[in-house]
Amino acid sequence: MAGNDYVTAFAPASIGNVAVGFDMLGLAIAGAGDRVSARRVSAEGVSIAEVRGLDGNIHPTLSNNPAENTASVAAAALWDAAGQPGGLELIIRKGVPLQSGMGSSSASAVAGAVAANALLDTPLEIEALMPFALEGEKVASGGIHADNVAPSLLGGLVLCPPALLPRMVRLATPEGLGSVLLHPELLVDTAEARKKLARGYSMDQWLTQQGYLAGFMAGMATNDIELIRDCLQDVIIEPQRQSAVPCFDAVKEAALRAGALGSSLSGSGPSLFALCESNIAANVAIAMEQACRSCGYDCQSWVSSLTAEGAYVEEAA
Ligand code: HSE
Repeated sequence: MAGNDYVTAFAPASIGNVAVGFDMLGLAIAGAGDRVSARRVSAEGVSIAEVRGLDGNIHPTLSNNPAENTASVAAAALWDAAGQPGGLELIIRKGVPLQSGMGSSSASAVAGAVAANALLDTPLEIEALMPFALEGEKVASGGIHADNVAPSLLGGLVLCPPALLPRMVRLATPEGLGSVLLHPELLVDTAEARKKLARGYSMDQWLTQQGYLAGFMAGMATNDIELIRDCLQDVIIEPQRQSAVPCFDAVKEAALRAGALGSSLSGSGPSLFALCESNIAANVAIAMEQACRSCGYDCQSWVSSLTAEGAYVEEAA
């Protein structure tokens, strides 16, 4: 892509935590994502020409201040590190709802980094964009957790423990498994939700959750669907957060009754996800939507494989 003056990058939404891996496991989804267009300009620095929302209109809440948007912060971090002359002007198109638990801020950060990268004289490998995308994500979340950034960047199921960042590992997944992500029309602020989490946990909780994470990953690596089913559980974070999502119990129960391997919050919610055999995913989605609506919340759902594509440049000139 070197030599271009204008690019548009797409970065997908994602499922954070995937129940078993708080802050360290994320899964890309298909069909929802943010777009960032970047144009080389002679003025130094990164500016935002406009931010548009899901309806195509100017976004009602996100400002054009480049210090406050995850896309521009990520793009500027990369542009500065590369020592590029001149600057960038961005147009940000939000396809992921804010405060949805679908990795909205990360999708923008990743799309910003990928767009800026495509305009460098010598673009970096996609994995090398992680630190810059994380700089952007930090603006929204106030901390460093990569479980949305990593899958949005690489696609698929990605392990990204905070202690190993910026290293991340895309995990092999069995064929024939898929995800359902359901977004109820509710808002949860991730930074606020994180402040409410307990600081201390018992040895029992730690051992149990560690076992589930290890078992889940082993199940993924060995195509052991029953092991994945037994391990797709969160005994630590979900119990602290589920009451913030009034339809949680009904939607989770509907997913399990429809045959899902497991279901939990995506990130801090309000979205919920389920993993299941791909051939029943459409039915699981219908069951989750019906349960959500019966609680009085409108909703939308997405069905994906476990190998949904990561960020890419979709237009360059
Ligand atoms: N893992 C984060 C949380 C959200 O659950 O608070 C996304 O990074």
